[in-house]
Amino acid sequence: MEFKNETINSERDKQILKPSYRNFPMVPKVVFGEGSFDQLGDILMLKRESVDAPMIYLVDDVFKNSSLINRIPLLFEDRIIFQCAEQEPKTEQVDALVANIKENCKELPSGIIGIGGGTVMDLAKAVAIMLKNKGSSVKYQGWDLVNKPAIYHVGIPTISGTGAEVSRTTVLMGPTKKLGINSDYTVFDQVILDPELLQGVPKNKWFYTGMDCYIHCIESLNGTFLNAFSQSYGEKALDLCKDVFLGNLNDSEARAKLMMASWHGGMSIAYSQVGIAHALSYGLSFLLGIRHGLANCLVFQHLQEFYPEGVATFKKILNKHAIDLPKDICKGLSEDQFNIMINVSLKMTPLWENALGKDWKTRISPEKIRDIYSKI
Ligand SMILES: [Fe+2]
Repeated sequence: MEFKNETINSERDKQILKPSYRNFPMVPKVVFGEGSFDQLGDILMLKRESVDAPMIYLVDDVFKNSSLINRIPLLFEDRIIFQCAEQEPKTEQVDALVANIKENCKELPSGIIGIGGGTVMDLAKAVAIMLKNKGSSVKYQGWDLVNKPAIYHVGIPTISGTGAEVSRTTVLMGPTKKLGINSDYTVFDQVILDPELLQGVPKNKWFYTGMDCYIHCIESLNGTFLNAFSQSYGEKALDLCKDVFLGNLNDSEARAKLMMASWHGGMSIAYSQVGIAHALSYGLSFLLGIRHGLANCLVFQHLQEFYPEGVATFKKILNKHAIDLPKDICKGLSEDQFNIMINVSLKMTPLWENALGKDWKTRISPEKIRDIYSKI
């Protein structure tokens, strides 16, 4: 006994027993305001390495014939590459973009600027990383596998909710898994939050992406990883979501508040984690290619056992906006297909641990997950 006490009290063991807190990066520079997009040229000017090192703008192709394109500050060898955001971003798409940029630029770009929703912003983050790191992006899907800092990269959201503008991940669909490149180098160096850019988002996209944010809040605030840091951001984001989706704001207020809800929701999960809806939605997206926001909603409606208040409010929101979620998505899937989804979902260990605690494996089973999927 004496020996044990002496051991625990030794300086060396106190050192070992010290809790280790995550030292996570935040976006170092951010501009907020209607019309702030037009400051992009001045911001980028300070980051241009040479006339042969261009700025590469990855832009959601919905803007192809819009006036926004004329406001992009093109100089020297700068290029716009339009990206279709109808599907989840893929590792092969990132690898192809990186090869294309290396082949067509005299020097490595000075910066990568993602203008779009979560898909385009995630592509921009991944391309910026992969221009400096060798091999396929598949190699870096996971936690802290990136060795070298990314190229300077800027995020400009035009759809809000995913929190991609603030997160240290870029979620990619790979050949065998849907998983993020989570690293300190993933975080944007600069974000421009211009609520005007959210004008004209189709209602479904606006809704499902906004609900991604709402679900981030519920999963963070009801998780075992919750702490005062996450809670302060999560509660604010949840209030903003309720204002936007259940209140009576004018359009301009609603856009600005949704933009800040997305930001705060992203900050909340940065220091905690998402939960069951996300774990299951990854399976749905992987097998069926369903977009992240919609996949979350499809799962979340059946999670009243885990998030009773959150699901009740979600149903009120669905009602208010007359959203009919698609039905029978999993009807007719084979057992093998169910198993693929179940396996993808069960690999999301941190999400389950946040939702259900360290003994999560005793609280959820493949059968239970199958049961939830079969209702979708
Ligand atoms: Fe999400």
